[in-house]
Amino acid sequence: MPIQAKIGPSILNADLANLAAESQKLLDNGADYLHLDVMDGAFVPNLTFGHPMVKCLRNHIKEAFFETHMMVQNPEQWIAPMADAGVNLYTFHVEPVKDVCNVTRKIQEAGMKVGLAIKPGTEVKEIEKYIDVADLVLVMTVEPGFGGQSFMADMMPKVEWLRNNYPNLDIEVDGGVGPKTIDCCAKAGANWIVSGTAVVGSADQRQVISELRNVVKSYLK
Ligand code: DX5
Ligand code: ZN
Repeated sequence: MPIQAKIGPSILNADLANLAAESQKLLDNGADYLHLDVMDGAFVPNLTFGHPMVKCLRNHIKEAFFETHMMVQNPEQWIAPMADAGVNLYTFHVEPVKDVCNVTRKIQEAGMKVGLAIKPGTEVKEIEKYIDVADLVLVMTVEPGFGGQSFMADMMPKVEWLRNNYPNLDIEVDGGVGPKTIDCCAKAGANWIVSGTAVVGSADQRQVISELRNVVKSYLK
């Protein structure tokens, strides 16, 4: 199947005390999936939530596609509980991981899809040998840890390299992506778009989500 445009709002900057309602609102406004930012205070200097919260959210939202963006020191540790919580796509940072293939295999055995994430300082060549076992590659366009940061356009060569070499790969961008920066992401070849502040903080979420999707679609062959 040809790759598709998917828009996944990040709920990091939403009202986390109202996570279910905020998430449902995003889905009602056209979100294709939910991007759930899990931070452990070690891999990144911030803390968010873990599998107990994701499991509670899943109890409220039965159907939606959940991606967890695992900004954690030991992604292997959370595979089983996140699978149990109903996660569909387990995207983890390769930087702290010694045996990436071991982690990808365990994610698949747990019934989830595999996403490989790289920080701005990590070259795409460092994950080249794992791409065949991944369902998606996430190219961070900010330093992971916080929402609302400025988009790093100098990450686009990574996206272009991936798209040129892997025409059917799902390529995700995350960090500072919104109506002002989507064109450059889509042109480079990204098709899974995470957007936090630009969507969640908008008075018209539906319009922003639709605009982002239309720009991505306009570059898909
Ligand atoms: C940053 C997170 C992102 C972030 C996106 O560490 O991984 O998902 O919340 O938010 P914006 O779009 O505001 O940069
Ligand atoms: Zn994220």
